[in-house]
Parts: sequence; structure tokens; C-alpha cells
Amino acid sequence: MLSQIQELQNSAIKEISACTQADQILEIEKKYLGKTGQLAQILKNIKNLDNEAKKTIGQNANLAKNEITQALYARKQELENLELQERLASEKIDVTLPSKDLSVGTINPLTKMIAQAEKIFLSLGFAIEDGPHIEAELYNFDSLNFKKHHPARDIQDTFFIDKPEHEDYGKLVLRTHTSPVQVRAMLKHGAPIKIINPGRVYRNEDQDATHEHTFYQIEGLMIDKNAGIGHLRGVLEEFLSQLFEKQITTRFRPGYFPFTEPSLELDMSCVFCDQKGCKVCKHTGFIELLGCGMVHPNVLRSSNVDPEEYQGFAFGMGLDRILMLKYGFQSVCDIRANDQRLLKQL
Ligand code: DAH
Repeated sequence: MLSQIQELQNSAIKEISACTQADQILEIEKKYLGKTGQLAQILKNIKNLDNEAKKTIGQNANLAKNEITQALYARKQELENLELQERLASEKIDVTLPSKDLSVGTINPLTKMIAQAEKIFLSLGFAIEDGPHIEAELYNFDSLNFKKHHPARDIQDTFFIDKPEHEDYGKLVLRTHTSPVQVRAMLKHGAPIKIINPGRVYRNEDQDATHEHTFYQIEGLMIDKNAGIGHLRGVLEEFLSQLFEKQITTRFRPGYFPFTEPSLELDMSCVFCDQKGCKVCKHTGFIELLGCGMVHPNVLRSSNVDPEEYQGFAFGMGLDRILMLKYGFQSVCDIRANDQRLLKQL
């Protein structure tokens, strides 16, 4: 029996070292050491032996069992390490390979232009103000010298919010222009003041190539002891020249806005033909750009600024229009379409 045990141990150890896969180890264990395995078969007849022999065989069987178990364990570890190394080698990542072409979006040109405009005005000493989009009629119209029943209110087709009228503030509206920010800023900071306010405005308009119910404006305001039209022109020519990256000249025409007196329309030299005459400027050399003027004394009074002491200019321009001019868009819809093929070119 002793020699049987020795033989079993030898053949088990041989089989273990010849084994090439970790999951075969379990089978070998079962084959030799399992309940009905070969060792158990040999020990089956142990009960017929005398005590001394039982002891010797028992000890030898245990030793063999330990040897085999240890060999199994060691080989299992070895094989698992080998498999891991093979797997690591086969799954190796080459970090130097070029990455897949992930499509990254672009910043919308309008957002870019607002940032650009802010930068230019900041460099000219203007601060940036903000205002609510749901605005009180008081600030959107009354404080800006729109009389209650004056037809000037009709120029700006308004979205009214369906809420009861407030005794002092009137109805709530979606702001039709950025001009109410002038009043809010003067009430907040007083004079002198130099601000711009870029932002979204809303009008009850039918959509076509140049009109939308939601669009963007930049408002500008400068109030000081003697801020005048000369400063207005200087500021706007500097702004436009920086924005369009070429020398821009301007011209004034008379205009009408309730909140300015005098009111002016400002045209800029045509960026497409440099005033030689083209389709865009209708061969006039100039493009209509924005409204501006000297802030009306009534607006200053509504904003707690004394018109005897202070004066200044304001302007308001449509950003979509400037964007169309800068990039040659045919329609405002092109700007909103968010077509990556177009946006990536800008
Ligand atoms: N708020 C005017 C509009 O939306 C634009 C405008 C004109 C703003 C003249 C001004 C200004 O500040 O002085 O049509």
C-alpha cells in the first residue's frame, strides 16, 4: 500500500507539472484527492490492517495528500500568472495611435460676436450691465418717454404677459428692446455712467429673412457732464473698425425714437465694397446699421439723473444684423439653424 501511495503521488505530481490550464487543476484534484478519488480508493482497505500499519499508512497518505495539494496550489498560481501575462500582452493598448475623430461642437458665431463686442467696449471703458427679459411696461416704455397712447408704442409689436396690470409698473412684457437697461442702470448706479448691455429681445413679428420674434441687441449708454454726438461717433467708429478689422466710417441721418432728442440713424461704410458701390449697399457706399441719439431729458428724469447737470448719448443695434454683415449670411435663420457644416467654417 505504501508503494501504491508513492506511485500515486509521483503520477499526480507529474500530471500537475504537465498541466497547461488553470481550470484543469480542479479536475486533477478531484481525480487524486476527491471523495471517490484514487487516494480514497487506496485507503478503502485500511480498515483491515493492524493498528501499527494503519498509523504508517495514514501518515504517509497525509504526507502524500499535502504534497499533492501544495503542488496543485503552486501550479495553479503559476498558470494564472501566465494567463494574466498573456492577456495583458494581447490587450495592450497602443496609446500612440491617433484617436477616433470625435465631433466637437463650435461656439455659435453669435456668442462669439457678443464676447468680441464686450471685449472691445470694455477696452473703451464701458461696463457690462444686464437686465430682466420679462420687463415691466414702466421700464420698457413709460420711463423711456413712450407716452401711454402714443403710436410710437406700435412700432414695437409687443408680447404681453397674461397677468394683471400693476398700479405702478403697468403690465409685464417680454422686453422689446435692450433700452430699459439704460433706465435700470442709471437708477442703480447714477451718473456719470458708461455701460453696454447685450441681450435677447422679443417682438411679436412674423418670421422672414430679416425678422424673427427673438433676436439680439446691444445697447450702449454714456452719460457725463458733456458727453455728446462726437463721442458717440468716435466710440462707434472704433467699435466697428475693431469688429470688422478694417477702417469704418459712419454717417448720420435724422431718425425718430421717443427716448432720444435729437434721434439719429447711423450708417456705416460698406464692408463689402469699401464704398465703391455694390448690391449690398445698393450702390450708396453705406449700410444702415443702428439707432442712436442724445438721451431725452425725460428719460434722465425718470432715471433720477438731473438733465441740467448731465447729458449723454445712447445707441442700440441689432446683433443679428451685424453678424449677417460680418459673415455674409443671407438670412437670420442661417444663424439659428446650428448647421455644423456652416458653423465649422466660421
Ligand atoms: N431701442 C431701439 C429699438 O429697438 C434702438 C435704439 C435706438 C436704442 C436709439 C437706443 C437709441 O439706445 O438711442 O429699435
